[in-house]
Amino acid sequence: MFSDHPPINLLDYEQLARDKLTRTIFDYFAGGSDDSITLRENSAAYDRIRLRPRILVDVDQRNMETTLLGKTLSSPFIVAPMALAGMAHPDADIAIARGADNTPVTISTLSSYSLEEIAEAAQSPLWFQLYVYRDRSITQKLVERAEAAGYQALVVTVDGVVAGNRERDRRNEFKLPENVTLKNLYDAKLDRVIALPGASSVAAYFSSQIDPSFSWKDLEWLRSITKLPIILKGILRADDARRAHNHGAAAIVVSNHGGRQLDTVPASIDVLPEIAAEIGDAMPILLDSGIRRGTDVLKALALGANAVMIGRPVMWGLAVDGEEGVRRVLEIIQEELDTAMALCGCPSLKDIDADLIWNSIREQ
Ligand SMILES: Cc1cc2nc3c(=O)[nH]c(=O)nc-3n(C[C@H](O)[C@H](O)[C@H](O)COP(=O)(O)O)c2cc1C
Repeated sequence: MFSDHPPINLLDYEQLARDKLTRTIFDYFAGGSDDSITLRENSAAYDRIRLRPRILVDVDQRNMETTLLGKTLSSPFIVAPMALAGMAHPDADIAIARGADNTPVTISTLSSYSLEEIAEAAQSPLWFQLYVYRDRSITQKLVERAEAAGYQALVVTVDGVVAGNRERDRRNEFKLPENVTLKNLYDAKLDRVIALPGASSVAAYFSSQIDPSFSWKDLEWLRSITKLPIILKGILRADDARRAHNHGAAAIVVSNHGGRQLDTVPASIDVLPEIAAEIGDAMPILLDSGIRRGTDVLKALALGANAVMIGRPVMWGLAVDGEEGVRRVLEIIQEELDTAMALCGCPSLKDIDADLIWNSIREQ
């Protein structure tokens, strides 16, 4: 299937996906907001961090097992929620949930199959990502359906009250292709949105449907309608992390939404130390935005994350080779983390700490 050589890293998958997808669709997946300063920073920040390996540690037996929200995971990865996977491959979220094997997958509210269809087909544990609708009965129905279908956690996205200004989409006059539907919302007849001239349909959709008044007190309401653990995704400040914990969040995701929301915010890896110092072991800290290499994962774990979410590279795997592409992307980054752990003298995740980060030592 690959004319040259098969992809050997996540960046190869991005290149192949770029070749395969239409420009408008690739841009929707790859794009950032405004000037893409945060998007670029998400990789630049990892490039700036240098590692400080330990030598002559017995790393013959390595494992990357961890426990998260009471469940054992064979590795510290979760697939990030991503809307409109149907534009990458007809099997969309179903191929993601099969290809992920036992890695938990977060299904977006804006998935291309219904959350029930995905649960039916999935190999992996599933989490459900929730956008809070102005019409609370839609929100409540989604939560009840996710719980009934066996989803294990609710990931409430808190950095998306309005859509970021994605100029590539505006220039491309991006709108939902005819063959891609927002299946979860089909009953609510919300699955067709017409692009406004000069605006992306996603932006129009958000401003018409998603509730920008949702605030801390509404979390109590959300907690009252579900038994599922609630994870807040999109936190970039220590005080908000503390508030999340005080309001009963089971975990947080330190994230800037892959540079797609507010431009010029820092890379999530750069705000992680402040948040980890505030939260300690009080609740798990997940992180995404810009993870492309095993060493990126090791740096995130060293600076206080318990696990990481993989976003765009999973979409590239899906676009290039469906379920098998998703599987390979996740295998590659696990293999890279294994190599990084061996070379850093870390037989297990508990051996990964801030002492492995060269920059932080220099700053002391
Ligand atoms: C195409 C695309 C769609 C996304 N859709 C959602 C979504 O529906 N809900 C959400 O919380 N985050 C969404 N995100 C953000 C991801 O969950 C994640 O935070 C981001 O992709 C991380 O950045 P990275 O992929 O560059 O590592 C989306 C990201 C992309 C690239």
